[in-house]
Amino acid sequence: MSQATLIDGKAIAASVRAEITARAACLLAETGRQPGLAVVLVGEDPASQVYVRNKDKAAAACGFHSVKHSLPADTSETDLLALVETLNADDTIHGILVQLPLPRHIDESKVLRLIRPEKDVDGFHPVNVGLLSIGDRESALVPCTPAGSLVLLKRTLGPSLAGLDAVVIGRSNIVGKPMAQLLLSESCTVTVAHSRTKDLVEVVRRADIVVAAVGRPEMVRGDWIKPGATVIDVGINRVPDPSRGADATRLVGDVAFAEAAVHAGAITPVPGGVGPMTIAMLMANTLTAARRLLNVPAEPDLF
Ligand code: GUN
Repeated sequence: MSQATLIDGKAIAASVRAEITARAACLLAETGRQPGLAVVLVGEDPASQVYVRNKDKAAAACGFHSVKHSLPADTSETDLLALVETLNADDTIHGILVQLPLPRHIDESKVLRLIRPEKDVDGFHPVNVGLLSIGDRESALVPCTPAGSLVLLKRTLGPSLAGLDAVVIGRSNIVGKPMAQLLLSESCTVTVAHSRTKDLVEVVRRADIVVAAVGRPEMVRGDWIKPGATVIDVGINRVPDPSRGADATRLVGDVAFAEAAVHAGAITPVPGGVGPMTIAMLMANTLTAARRLLNVPAEPDLF
């Protein structure tokens, strides 16, 4: 049985970050300005703390101006909205990211909608959602995980994905829907499958490209994969691993990796696939936002 090519997200993310670091240095030389990223964390959720620390570190490593705001869990919605207004008006800041989830007493959509669309490096503002859906990637900021998944697909399959059958499993606003829009803008024939889809196995079996973003450990089985298909596994699920001890856990994706690798042409591992791309694309979005806000012409697309 043949074995799929492993798509090395860690290595591809490192090459993207190196390119962004070089472009940020050019921007500094041309304009005397650094891209500026503000990351806002409310509360002490340990996973969010790790994500925010990694985003802050990556921004500094790319030569960006990086600011982290860590607010207590009982911060009022009014105070958080006031901070967003301040960052909206701060001309050293080109990208604003409010880490989700927010504490329950804060209306997430109110906060996300207050971020200036031009600084919305998560791509969650309805203006950016709309721009992506009308295919205006010149003006939109595109959500980082789908953007990173598209970079992995193009590095694997080449610059044109036109005519390929793509199935996205999952319809979230953060991954599934924007991923479908991106693949459509690349002229794929796109199917969005979800928990109510009938004959999911048959739908997946038709696909040249499978993007799994459902959050269910190893749900996609190996024999669902068309021989030679490219599989992008967005899932990150922590599951018990009794083979390594009573309390041990390990990370698995939404795809049963060992099984799928027998059928796929190429596949992303978990961890080390899509995960590292998300932060790399946040850096790309911050640089893009800075260039637009500073009226410096765009550089060639990273994807
Ligand atoms: N929490 C988990 N993923 C994300 C993300 O991509 N952006 C933000 N803002 N919060 C998150």
